[in-house]
Amino acid sequence: MPGIQFEKVGKQFGQVEVLQDVNLSIKSSEFVSLVGPSGCGKTTLLRILAGLEHCTSGKVIVNDSSPEEACRRHLVGVAFQRPALVASRTAINNVKLTLEITGSTNNLSPNKLLQDFGLGDFLDHYPHQLSGGMQQRVNIASALVHNPSILLLDEPFGALDEITRESMGEWLGQVLLSTPKTVLFVTHSVEEATLLSDRVVVLSKLPGRISDVLEIDLPHPRKNEVRLKDDYLKHVARVRKSLYNTLI
Ligand SMILES: Nc1ncnc2c1ncn2[C@@H]1O[C@H](COP(=O)(O)OP(=O)(O)OP(=O)(O)O)[C@@H](O)[C@H]1O
Ligand SMILES: [Mg+2]
Repeated sequence: MPGIQFEKVGKQFGQVEVLQDVNLSIKSSEFVSLVGPSGCGKTTLLRILAGLEHCTSGKVIVNDSSPEEACRRHLVGVAFQRPALVASRTAINNVKLTLEITGSTNNLSPNKLLQDFGLGDFLDHYPHQLSGGMQQRVNIASALVHNPSILLLDEPFGALDEITRESMGEWLGQVLLSTPKTVLFVTHSVEEATLLSDRVVVLSKLPGRISDVLEIDLPHPRKNEVRLKDDYLKHVARVRKSLYNTLI
């Protein structure tokens, strides 16, 4: 049974058709990236999956349930581009906030999670005392702490410089090796999508339709050194070419 299934999903905002006939099955524990031109409906697709938006046609199944039911059962963790941290709460208390909101008991230890994320010395720091990369790690920890089987990430590294971004990508790959999740990851970076994904899904310009699905059959774990390898670079070129085709 797939972790996530989109069946003929369409979305209109008023007269504007944003998504059209989106069909996609994502297997349990699969990492799928979504790339496509700006404004093609990537965030909208993620918001539908997170139960924050309804599709106008078709249906979405998340672990045998509707997105709303999956969220109610705390099966889904979400992190967006800007860290959604509460300024008056320390790093550890921001992570604990997810547990307060979800009431989850089958959770990971917030303390251990932040330590594993390299933030053991920063548990009691407030967001303004953390770097952008650290804030984003707290943000992702908050999305993971209730142990969801599905993780939705919308450009989580978009605001970071290139070097931090590359190390965060490598770090996320490591985290997921130890706690596998079904992941839908929106990014504008073809390199990042190629490094992390089992498959890269390319959306066309508005209305967003799936124009290509590319398998990335590189072995795991994928450290940043993979970025220098010919096999990786060939995959990057394939994804980039497919993305360029959507702009024609
Ligand atoms: N709540 C809304 N009401 C009306 N139109 C919306 C709403 N949300 C999104 N849109 C429109 O839907 C389209 C897709 O938006 P969306 O944010 O999903 O794109 P995106 O692919 O995530 O873009 P980007 O790469 O720039 O983040 C855009 O034209 C946007 O203006
Ligand atoms: Mg977006």
